Amino acid sequence: MPQAGKNTDFGFQEVPLEDKQALVDDVFHSVASRYDLMNDLMSGGLHRAWKAALVTAVNPPKGERPFALLDMAGGTGDIAFRVIEAGGTDTRTTVVDINADMLEVGRERAAERGLDDAITFVEGNAEALPFPDRSYDAVTIAFGIRNVPRIDKALAEAHRVLRLGGRFLCLEFSAVDVPGLDALYDLYSFNVIPALGRAVVGDAEAYRYLVESIRRFPRPDTFAEMMRAAGFRRVAFQRMSGGIVALHSGWRL
Ligand SMILES: C[S@@+](CC[C@H](N)C(=O)[O-])C[C@H]1O[C@@H](n2cnc3c(N)ncnc32)[C@H](O)[C@@H]1O
Repeated sequence: MPQAGKNTDFGFQEVPLEDKQALVDDVFHSVASRYDLMNDLMSGGLHRAWKAALVTAVNPPKGERPFALLDMAGGTGDIAFRVIEAGGTDTRTTVVDINADMLEVGRERAAERGLDDAITFVEGNAEALPFPDRSYDAVTIAFGIRNVPRIDKALAEAHRVLRLGGRFLCLEFSAVDVPGLDALYDLYSFNVIPALGRAVVGDAEAYRYLVESIRRFPRPDTFAEMMRAAGFRRVAFQRMSGGIVALHSGWRL
């Protein structure tokens, strides 16, 4: 169980920056074995459409052209599996995640699907990637960046490991901006999701933390500025599902 922190006026846990990673690690340790099932339940399957949009933007080459993808905070490997499926015969993916339990679930899935050769799971911190400069054609992060304590460091690392002309894509929950939907979304997020967390993984607090982290995440235009500050060019974003999520894009040029 994640440790309870001090509550803010809004009832959110106030977690000092230096304690945030340990809290996040507890959350994903707690949910790892049922993480993929929970994604389907919480989003009503919508996460599949959001991830499909991300993979379309990655646009891995068909045929035999080599293509190397790094999926940061890649957890159980969902994005990597989808990119391998969409790409050609020489598509190689690396999943880096700080949580060994999430990676272990991913490794088992890769073995079941016979994809061990196309996907490598690496334990590591997005703030200090264990990879050389300019080593990937594309870098992705899906529903991961808001969990990283120092977002600016993770963005700088994504930029560092991309080759020139490579693309960074970040899928993240965002700010609902459709009147009516926002109230419904709040009701759902703060009531239904923790209840689902309790019923399915036996941990409502973990999912309460995840909902709170969505609300704290910068708005898309602010995040786009952070990407520019990290060195990305042609930065753009696209809101999806009324702003529930946003797909951010930037290039290393
Ligand atoms: C919500 S999950 C997303 C998993 C996967 N990208 C997906 O879309 O299914 C967030 C992931 O971020 C990972 N994470 C959190 N902090 C991290 C860090 N500093 N470096 C690398 N991974 C991190 C967690 O361990 C967890 O697997």
